[in-house]
Amino acid sequence: MKFFIDTANLAQISEANDLGILDGVTTNPSLMAKEGIKGEEAIVAHYKTICDMVDGDISAEVLGVTFEGIVEEGKKLAAIHPNIVVKVPMIKDGIKAIKWFSDNGIKTNCTLIFSAGQAILAAKAGATYISPFIGRIDDGGWDGVQLIEQIAQIYAVQGFKSQILAASIRNPNHIIRCAEAGANVCTCPLDSILGLLKHPLTDIGLAKFLEDAKKM
Ligand code: E4P
Repeated sequence: MKFFIDTANLAQISEANDLGILDGVTTNPSLMAKEGIKGEEAIVAHYKTICDMVDGDISAEVLGVTFEGIVEEGKKLAAIHPNIVVKVPMIKDGIKAIKWFSDNGIKTNCTLIFSAGQAILAAKAGATYISPFIGRIDDGGWDGVQLIEQIAQIYAVQGFKSQILAASIRNPNHIIRCAEAGANVCTCPLDSILGLLKHPLTDIGLAKFLEDAKKM
């Protein structure tokens, strides 16, 4: 399973990248706004910086919602760097645009997936990645990881090639369960990635080893 970091924060991207386990980055308009990135020039410059930092797929989300608008914007985003993946919302015009991008050799990430039906449509359109939002499904009282399992089963049976990119990850357990359920990629906040490191018995064991090392 690939590891992406889900942020537009350069310090966090750098910290995750330094671990040596990072395969890519996802952003969205909320994450970009959180970092104060405003205006076309600043947006392009920020994506360029991220592409220079991380050797992997970098999702950049379109802001348009019409077929023409999405295609126009997506072409500009894709021109920034070969690793840019155009992130397109799961709407009718988005599906049409994903098919256009797929026919024209531009990688896509279909975002805001909340059902297996949406995942089937996005795969049919040729999306490179599809992003089911696990945490937001959990927030509604459902089990987001069950959707990953269902999509993984459908894609395996049908031979769909889109990669399942589990998004809206809230904790380390989500990452473990998504890996088990067959996600191809998990895009995670830094604290969820770092949370995988932690176990109290590791801390206790290391403290004891360090103590005993003094006697050696
Ligand atoms: C990433 O591609 C998604 O936009 C992101 O994971 C959404 O996460 P959230 O539900 O925490 O906003």
